[in-house]
Amino acid sequence: MDENLEDIRLKIQKMAEVAESKGEPFGWFEELYENANRQSEDVPWARMEPHPKLVEWVANRPGVNGKALVVGCGLGDDAEWLEEIGFEVTAFDISKSSIDWCRERFPHSSVNYCVSDLFAPPKNWMNEFDLIVEIHILQVIPENIRDQAAEKMSLFLNDNGHLLCIGRLLEMDVEEQPTPPWPLGQVWLESRFQHLQLVNFTRFISENNNVGDFPPLPRFIAAWKKS
Ligand SMILES: C[S@@+](CC[C@H](N)C(=O)[O-])C[C@H]1O[C@@H](n2cnc3c(N)ncnc32)[C@H](O)[C@@H]1O
Repeated sequence: MDENLEDIRLKIQKMAEVAESKGEPFGWFEELYENANRQSEDVPWARMEPHPKLVEWVANRPGVNGKALVVGCGLGDDAEWLEEIGFEVTAFDISKSSIDWCRERFPHSSVNYCVSDLFAPPKNWMNEFDLIVEIHILQVIPENIRDQAAEKMSLFLNDNGHLLCIGRLLEMDVEEQPTPPWPLGQVWLESRFQHLQLVNFTRFISENNNVGDFPPLPRFIAAWKKS
């Protein structure tokens, strides 16, 4: 494995453990973005382009348009792409440094970037969005509050809304690791969103294995529609 990648992984594990022990499971994200000091190589999930599976999924669904909400937007590439193709986009992250970084990267953007916690969102986001995008968010949320996180996300959907999730897929019954990312099981995902209509659940292997899984782990892209 790439040594630098392995160093970053170990650093993240340590930061996540400390944050967890302080009862602040998301505290390490701000620390990571702040310490990265605008060097995207130090943010292991930063692709600096929209996720190709998001692009493919949206491109195949011309009927999905309107207002989009990007949950945990990181460095903003997914949000910017959605805005470019015509969505009115709100993108939020719990880390202030990530949102500042997005604003610096895209100074002329009309994306509404904001610092917010998925667990304490503004009330006016409820029933508001045609598309909710979560890429690699549920998989970084500890198991004891993951059900609650999934429930929160679906509350943002309007009556015609779609929820799109991309993440690591859990295929074997393995013991949960102490630090994220935690692959998600299909059964858990489908049960969390059973009040919605399943549009697709597709397994894939990431071509761009920039997070250094050897061998590459299976991923999923799944979507649900409020009906
Ligand atoms: C693994 S990163 C993925 C970032 C981005 N979606 C991507 O694919 O590049 C997880 C992101 O979720 C954010 N995050 C974690 N917990 C959050 C919460 N409770 N509310 C909002 N954002 C959160 C982190 O700050 C981080 O930017």
